[in-house]
Amino acid sequence: MKFIQISDIHLVAPGERLYGLDPKERLEACIADINSQHPDAAFAVITGDLTQRGEERAYWLLEAMLKRLPMPVHLLIGNHDDRARFQSVFPAAARDPNGFVQFSMETPAGRFIGLDTNDPNGHHGTLCSKRLDWLDARLREAVGRPVCLFMHHAPLVVGLREMDVIALRESQLFGDIVTSHGNVRHIFFGHLHRSLSGSWRGIPFSTLPGTNHQVALDFVVEHVVPGSHEPPAYAVVLASAEAMLVHLRNFGDRTATFNL
Ligand SMILES: [Fe+2]
Repeated sequence: MKFIQISDIHLVAPGERLYGLDPKERLEACIADINSQHPDAAFAVITGDLTQRGEERAYWLLEAMLKRLPMPVHLLIGNHDDRARFQSVFPAAARDPNGFVQFSMETPAGRFIGLDTNDPNGHHGTLCSKRLDWLDARLREAVGRPVCLFMHHAPLVVGLREMDVIALRESQLFGDIVTSHGNVRHIFFGHLHRSLSGSWRGIPFSTLPGTNHQVALDFVVEHVVPGSHEPPAYAVVLASAEAMLVHLRNFGDRTATFNL
């Protein structure tokens, strides 16, 4: 099964720029590239920061733009989003019984669970007891079957100092739940605005650049998030029983290909 992960599109009002770039133009280029290279993907997941300021007009812009993708798109929210405004524009989006933007769906590659780590009181990630209990129950139901998790915030510290300050607060509890059932095979997240893969508490994870601006690889600077204009990307994931392959596609790249 092939699916797409997109993250951190940070849409603003049409015509407005963000850090010298046009997030709408960037998402348009991303969608055009998916349509030309991977229209056969089963679905796409956007792991949050759909907008920069949670503005309703930015969600309406997203709603219009996503109609250009031929596959179903599953949306999650990030620290820059506003849950109520998101849900007013996307009433059909995933919602758990407590009103959080969370989903659990069955795929040929196992159960895929999306989590809502938004905390309206800050840019850090939160999974309150309601959300953690919901996750625990969904994982328990799938014992013996593979599970992939999708979320906006990084569940671990990664060495980018200010990003670590705004990582998931309940990292320990989340990790305890995720490892307790023995069925989570991969965690996909966003938030970091750069590519990173590895493992955490024995579970593989990956994240990817945003479609607009990026975060610089700087392990020294504190109290500020260092930005960069490194290339944007989306992920093309090939999931099978044997492997989880996460390819990054730099959709803005215009260099020629050639035969080696
Ligand atoms: Fe972001």
